[in-house]
Amino acid sequence: MSSENVTESSPLGPELAIAGSLSDGADVLVIGLYSGEDGPTAVVGDGFVADDVVADLVAALTAVGAKGKADELTRIPAPTALSAGSVVAVGLGKADGVTAEKVRKAAGIAARSLTGVGTAATTLSAVDLGAAAEGFYLGAYTFSEFKAKSAPDDDAKPVGRVELLSTAKKADATLARSVAIAEAVATARNFVNTPPSHLYPAEFASRAQAIGKAAGLEVEILDDKALEQGGYGGIFGVGKGSSRLPRLVRLKYASAKSDAPLVALVGKGITFDTGGISIKPAASMENMTSDMAGAAAVIATVALAAKLGLDVNVTATVPMAENMPSDTAQRPGDVLTQYGGTTVEVINTDAEGRLILADAIVRACADDPAYLIDTATLTGAQMVALGTRTPGVMGTDEFRDRVARISQEVGENGWPMPLPDELRADLNSRVADLANVTNHRWGGMLSAGIFLKEFVPEGVAWAHVDIAGPAYNTGGPFGYISKGGTGVPVRTLIAVLEDVAANG
Ligand code: BES
Ligand code: MN
Ligand code: ZN
Repeated sequence: MSSENVTESSPLGPELAIAGSLSDGADVLVIGLYSGEDGPTAVVGDGFVADDVVADLVAALTAVGAKGKADELTRIPAPTALSAGSVVAVGLGKADGVTAEKVRKAAGIAARSLTGVGTAATTLSAVDLGAAAEGFYLGAYTFSEFKAKSAPDDDAKPVGRVELLSTAKKADATLARSVAIAEAVATARNFVNTPPSHLYPAEFASRAQAIGKAAGLEVEILDDKALEQGGYGGIFGVGKGSSRLPRLVRLKYASAKSDAPLVALVGKGITFDTGGISIKPAASMENMTSDMAGAAAVIATVALAAKLGLDVNVTATVPMAENMPSDTAQRPGDVLTQYGGTTVEVINTDAEGRLILADAIVRACADDPAYLIDTATLTGAQMVALGTRTPGVMGTDEFRDRVARISQEVGENGWPMPLPDELRADLNSRVADLANVTNHRWGGMLSAGIFLKEFVPEGVAWAHVDIAGPAYNTGGPFGYISKGGTGVPVRTLIAVLEDVAANG
């Protein structure tokens, strides 16, 4: 076997190729290192690197202090027997504890160190080809669309091509699936990273439509007039304060399998959240360009489901609005009528996400789905409860636990949270069926979930995924996660759809 048999090119990331042997064309070789009591051991797969070269490599890496611990990266000049110029060794921790996520992270860390490199080859793919591919692709992700005068020079450009050494059966199919998933994550990141000046409801809707059409989906867009006339009081009420009026996008993927179950996805698409008349202080407003991350994720996911041809029917119902203060904005104290007839007293216009989601949930459930997953940057309280990297998963008990478990498995780490009955009474309104906020701040993530629960019909298995923190990385890059949009929870959603396709 000599060169690669399949190459996946993608406009959003590096070219990834399967290789059966180490080619002369690689500028850098990326290997894994396991930690051990007697020093690190190299992960080089099945004969991709000659034994004596491996011994030299491990000796050189040990000499400069490499231990093989997670998050460790060591770069050394390559032994002369290798045609590559240098070797990057990334730690995987103990050999018996290696997981897909550890490989994904190590690959991401390696990819971030490879700026300016044309071609890299890696043996991480010998441990887990799919995870290595995802890690390299996502670790190399950058967003430079708006860098007009400071475009990255060659030394700062992400790695162009990665050769994944593998002799696995069905390597091509594994690679194609991983690249499709990574591409969907990058699509969601791009949406989140696009500034609100350029991504407003009508523009967001037309970009969603383009993605939907390209994936062969059925696309329906309701504009502001259709929303007002159609009784979508939540979406219209939140969106009417902006000169850039709201939209509702519906994307449908119909599986070829006639009796496939229907999964309804709903994602919050606030293209910017000022808070409205209940305006946010400047420091709390800074990151509100990320308030459409749920929408971005469900749009990318339904297109991905079509691309993968999953045996499950999927709809994405995506309300899009800009939450602005103005003379046409809704006021604290206003009462609106949600789609389906429930009236809501808007006590705080900054609790806008639940208002647009309620309309979308009722609309999505009119199709009688077996499962409903909504996802949203819904509450600051999510971060108070779980920190910035752990999505809160609420809903009906069994499906909530299933979604959280799958989220853990893919490394997005969603955690199950309760919807305590006693909080429901705190959403009673003096004038309407419901108030949009409680008069206290305790359990803010949960009371938002309890508000949404009012709109989910009996019998629908439901999960609500609050991604306020995890969708947007305001710190430095880590693993395969860049600054800004993370693409969470695309990988959870697609894994749940695959699980429903396989197990009902
Ligand atoms: N978009 C915010 C939630 C958010 C906060 C997302 C921080 C990401 C980071 C949401 O619309 C909001 O403003 N929620 C309020 C709810 C409150 C008024 C009950 C909040 O969390 O303060
Ligand atoms: Mn808000
Ligand atoms: Zn918001």
